[in-house]
Amino acid sequence: MMLVKLGGSVITDKTRYLTFRVDVLTRLVKEIVSAGQNVVLIHGAGSFGHVLASEHRIQDGYTNDSQVPAAAKVMEDVRDLNLRVMRVLNEGGLPSASLPPSAVATLKSGKLDVLDVNLFRRYLEVGISPVTFGDVALDSERRFGICSGDQLMERLARELRPERVIFVSDIDGVFTADPASDPDARLMETVDRATLDSLPRTQRCADVTGSIFGKIETMLRIASWGGDAVVLNGHAPGRLEAALRGEAVKGTRVRGDAT
Ligand code: IPE
Repeated sequence: MMLVKLGGSVITDKTRYLTFRVDVLTRLVKEIVSAGQNVVLIHGAGSFGHVLASEHRIQDGYTNDSQVPAAAKVMEDVRDLNLRVMRVLNEGGLPSASLPPSAVATLKSGKLDVLDVNLFRRYLEVGISPVTFGDVALDSERRFGICSGDQLMERLARELRPERVIFVSDIDGVFTADPASDPDARLMETVDRATLDSLPRTQRCADVTGSIFGKIETMLRIASWGGDAVVLNGHAPGRLEAALRGEAVKGTRVRGDAT
């Protein structure tokens, strides 16, 4: 089984509120179907989540009453995105079922606490790909908060032990410097704890759920349990399919302590 996160920056235009990239997702679904693997899918919220969530600081939990309708609206918006994703998946030939974190997960102080992983197992057993996504969820300490796709990836990787964990992003991987400002920036084929610590922390601004470095930290933990974790560019056709087939692919492989 493969665990795949389709980043919000790939399936939406993150800078424009509620902009779904149906063409990009349609191609990625073709790649998934053609690779012929069992997959558990997670997708980001992109501009269906981050714009409103950061305006109302939903990631901090409850601080004032004006956040309450905003939190509910973010849940509505990410469900809207999820439904669009589900349609592309089912019409594209990948039978899929949605498991929204607002209904199947809870947080504790901003961290994923309860998640019914058995539901994911049971859908897989009947040949249906379980799909979850970055969402607002209840928080036992802060009333509500953000359940990010990366937190879900980490929990599902730990519990389901997939053969490969693939983060589909809008960049090729991790660079030695910020490729937007440094022409000498080089893509790193592998990253481990030591190389990560030596990198300048200037690449990409953070959104409500963190920067590329936060993602790599998550990937380091996943890889330390023996899983193979890669980040690749979903805007480049064929890379997701190659990664799903277990082939070498342009991107960054994260090596944990145990690998
Ligand atoms: C964010 O989820 C969830 C909300 C803002 C509601 P993710 O962190 O997984 O989304 P992307 O991939 O960064 O868009």
